[in-house]
Amino acid sequence: LDYTINVDATGTGPAIDPAMYGVFFEDINRAADGGLYGELVQNRSFEYLPVDNGSYTGLTSWSPVSSSGGSGSIATVSDDARLNERNRTYLKVTLTNAGPGTYGVLNSGYNTGIALEAGKAYDFSVWARTDAAGGTPLTVTLHNQDGTTRYAAPVQLSVQDGAWRRYTGTFVATGTTDAARLAVEAGGDGTLRLDMVSLFPRDTFKGRPNGLRKDLAEKIAALRPGFVRFPGGCIVNTGSMYGYDAASGYQRARAYQWKDTIGPVEERATNANFWGYNQSYGLGYYEYFQFAEDIGAKPVPVVPALVTGCGQNRAVDDDALLQRHIQDTLDLIEFANGPVTSTWGAKRAAMGHSAPFGLDRIEVGNEENLPDAFMARFVGFRDAIKAAYPKVTVISNSGPDDAGTTFDRAWELNRANGVEMVDEHYYNDPSWFLQNNKRYDSYDRSGAKVWVGEYASWDNKLSNALAEGAYMTGLERNADVVTMASYAPLLANIDYVQWRPDLIWFDNDQSWGSANYEVQKLFMTNVGDQVVPSSFTGAVKTAQPVTGAIGLSTWRTAAKYDDVLVTSSDGTPLFSDDFSNGAGRWTPIAGRGTWTVQDGAYVQSDTAAENTMVKAGDESWRDYDLSVKATKISG
Ligand code: AHR
Repeated sequence: LDYTINVDATGTGPAIDPAMYGVFFEDINRAADGGLYGELVQNRSFEYLPVDNGSYTGLTSWSPVSSSGGSGSIATVSDDARLNERNRTYLKVTLTNAGPGTYGVLNSGYNTGIALEAGKAYDFSVWARTDAAGGTPLTVTLHNQDGTTRYAAPVQLSVQDGAWRRYTGTFVATGTTDAARLAVEAGGDGTLRLDMVSLFPRDTFKGRPNGLRKDLAEKIAALRPGFVRFPGGCIVNTGSMYGYDAASGYQRARAYQWKDTIGPVEERATNANFWGYNQSYGLGYYEYFQFAEDIGAKPVPVVPALVTGCGQNRAVDDDALLQRHIQDTLDLIEFANGPVTSTWGAKRAAMGHSAPFGLDRIEVGNEENLPDAFMARFVGFRDAIKAAYPKVTVISNSGPDDAGTTFDRAWELNRANGVEMVDEHYYNDPSWFLQNNKRYDSYDRSGAKVWVGEYASWDNKLSNALAEGAYMTGLERNADVVTMASYAPLLANIDYVQWRPDLIWFDNDQSWGSANYEVQKLFMTNVGDQVVPSSFTGAVKTAQPVTGAIGLSTWRTAAKYDDVLVTSSDGTPLFSDDFSNGAGRWTPIAGRGTWTVQDGAYVQSDTAAENTMVKAGDESWRDYDLSVKATKISG
C-alpha cells in the first residue's frame, strides 16, 4: 500500500457540537411496550381492540385459569362501570367457585413469556372492584405455563368493595426464567372487575417507578447520546387525525398527541399505532424527558403537523384543529420548561420533576411527502413557537428521500421560509454511503443546519457498519452544516419486527447491539471538539459497482466482493451475500421464496452446507451463472 494521510495540526476546521450524535427512538418493532418500557404484562388494561389490529381482542395475551375446581367466566366490557373515561375497557370476571376453588386469568407477557431473575423484586398492582358481600380474595402467582413450577411465593390480596381501588403486592423471584405466566385468581362468587393488571421489575433503569427496562436503557446510555429524538418517525404524524372529535375528546387510531401520554398511567388512553399494534403510552412524554435527562441527552420531541407523511399523502384542512395542535405544541414547551406556577409546568411538577427539562429544540412534522401543504402548516407552528419561545429551534424536514422532486421542493421552501434546521432521512445500500461521503461538502454554509435524523444502510452486517462509519466521517467533516445525526431505528424486538435493520435487538430477557451499534458507539463516545483538516494522497481504492455474469465458484472462493446482490435476468433481487463467514453463505432476501431464475434454474438455500446451490430443472445442484451486481471493495 502506498498512500499518505496529511494532517494539518495547525489548521482549524469546523467546531463539532458535543451533542452532534444522538438516538432516534420510535415505537416501532415493539420498541416501547414489550421493549424499553419496563411493564411485563401485555395488554394490561384490556384495551387491545380489533380496531387497532384485526388479530386483537380485549383478551389478547390473556386466558382463563382456575385452581382447586374453581369456575367462572371472563369477558372484556366497555360500559359505565369502567375505571375512567380514558380507560374504557375492563375485565369482568363472573365467579361461580365452590369451596376452595379459585378462578381468574393468566397473562403470557411478551415473546416467550414473563422474564424473571432469581432474587429480584417485582411489583404487582391491579385496579379492582367487587360486588361480593364481604369482598373477594385474590391470589396472584408467577408460574410456568402449566402451573407446575412456581417462581415466587404468591401475593394474597383482598378486594374490598364496589369502588375501584388500586391493590399492590411484591414478589421476590425464587427462580430465573424467560417464560413465566402471571395468574390472578379470585375466590368466592359474584362479579369482580379488574383493570390495569401490572407487574414491574423493581430494578428499572435508575430505579424509576413506571421506569425503563434496565439492559436496554443501559445500552442506549452507553452510546452517550447528545440527544434523544422521540416518539418517532411515522408514528408521529399519521393516523386518523380526521377522526378527532372535539366533543368526546376520545378517538382511537389518531395521531400521536403528547397530552395523551402524561399523568397517571391508568388515565392514559391507549392508541392504535401506525406500525399496527396498540401502544399503552406507559412510556410517555414525561418518561421520555426523564430518560433524556438521566442519560445527559437533550430531549428532541417531534409533533404532528397535520399532514400525513409516510406515504399517506394527505393534508388536514381544519383550521380549528391546526390551531389546537399549535397550542398543544406551545403547551408541550411549557410542560418541558415552564415554571411550576404555569399550567403545564405544574403538571410536570406533579409528576415528580419541578425543575425544567431544558428543551431547546423541537421538530414539527416528519418526512412529509407534500412539501407545500406541510410548509403552509409548519410556518404557523414555527411563528407561534418563536413568538413565545424565541430561543427554541424549530426543525422542519426535507421529505422521505435523499434527492428528487419532493426533496428539491422541500429544500426550496425551507430556504424561502428561513427555516433554521432541516431533518433529512435516507436508507440506502452500503455502496450509496461509500459513494456519498462528500454529500455535505457543497451544502450552503449560510443556510439551514442539517439534522440527519434517520439513516442506515440496508442491513446489520459488518460491511454495513463500516459503510456507515465511512459516511460519518463525511458528516463530521461538515459539522458546520450537519449539526445533528441519528441512526434509525434504534430498537427491535426480534419477535415483532416491522423494520430492519435496527441498532439494538432484544427479546424478553436479552439484548444485543448490532455491528452498526458498535460503529455508532465509537463515534458517539469519541466526539471531537473541532475538525482537523486532513488530506489523502496515494492510490484511491474506490468502491465500484460491478455488474455481470460471474461464475459462482469464482466469487464464492475469491472473497473480494461485498454486498453481493444476485438478481434474475429481469432484475428481481434473489439473494445476497456479504461473505461475513468467509465462506460465502448466501442470505435469501426475505419473502422471495424459491426463485426461478435464468432458463428455469432454481436457487435454494442449503443451510446445512452453509452454501447456496443452483439447479436447472431436474439436474443436480451445482454452481450456476447468474447476473450479479456487487460492490467491489478489494482486490
Ligand atoms: O425509521 C423507520 C421509519 O423510517 C420512520 O418511522 C420514518 O420516519 C421513516 O420512513
